[in-house]
Amino acid sequence: MENPIPPSFNPKLNGKIAIITGGASGIGEATAYLFAQHGAQVVIADIQEEKGRSVAESIGSTHCTFIKCDVTDEQQVQSLVQSTVEIHGRVDIMFSNAGIASHNEHAQDILGFNLDALDNLFAVNVRGSVACVKHAAKAMVEGGVKGKIICTASAAATMGVTRQIDYAMSKHAVLGLVRSASKGLGAYGIRVNCVSPAAVATPLLEKSMKMGVEELEKLFESFNCLKVGALRASHVADAVLFLASDDSQFITGHNLVVDGGYHPPM
Ligand SMILES: NC(=O)c1ccc[n+]([C@@H]2O[C@H](COP(=O)([O-])OP(=O)(O)OC[C@H]3O[C@@H](n4cnc5c(N)ncnc54)[C@H](O)[C@@H]3O)[C@@H](O)[C@H]2O)c1
Repeated sequence: MENPIPPSFNPKLNGKIAIITGGASGIGEATAYLFAQHGAQVVIADIQEEKGRSVAESIGSTHCTFIKCDVTDEQQVQSLVQSTVEIHGRVDIMFSNAGIASHNEHAQDILGFNLDALDNLFAVNVRGSVACVKHAAKAMVEGGVKGKIICTASAAATMGVTRQIDYAMSKHAVLGLVRSASKGLGAYGIRVNCVSPAAVATPLLEKSMKMGVEELEKLFESFNCLKVGALRASHVADAVLFLASDDSQFITGHNLVVDGGYHPPM
């Protein structure tokens, strides 16, 4: 991925320490590049070790490192945050973005709902998000850091669906987490927000819909009322940067929808 820096460039995250979960791929990867470009020191946390290390290497070891972490395991999240504080002195930004789609084998419509699949999905999307918000917030409070926490919710966080109900439920929960955490952490000057993208052709969607990038983009573009091409991971990264930077100083508990006026047939 090319990362050209224009001469008049004004970095928005100079010297900030940022953890990005799910940073090995898709939206997290695009955000890791953008944050590093804006002067942040990025820690990519993911279960995909080879991919995560290769993204970190490509960004450059002076700006980015990789720590293997499964967000479903609270101990691993705690140790991710502790290691970041030990190495870099503090955590300024937590982008809790790791997530998975509904299990391929189940439609997860209401009549055929598989509850075991729900447990697996909630372990990553909900439990993982809570662990990341909790431990980042604790480190920020202990370090006196007026940090920024951003979660990835989804367009599905505010709409009912007929299939993949577990996924929509998990993202409603992420939204509830963000709104609630912002209440308690406001007293410490910590802002908590989320981004809610519509469909982006990342590996998550490629796997769950069994379609290629071009095919996915063509399909989802047709649902947007904004006709400027397909929604890409870089567009979501721009919204995350806004919430992580001082451009959004008075914004907390907010759900920043990035969807080009998405209206899928339900
Ligand atoms: N792609 C979309 O259309 C879309 C739309 C709305 C929201 N989202 C959300 O965006 C986020 C990022 O997804 P993406 O589309 O970039 O997908 P992706 O599959 O490209 O990236 C997700 C990353 O999360 C990592 N991950 C999965 N389980 C993990 C775990 N237990 N611990 C640590 N890391 C784990 C994966 O290894 C992967 O690198 C997810 O939360 C997803 O639900 C995606």
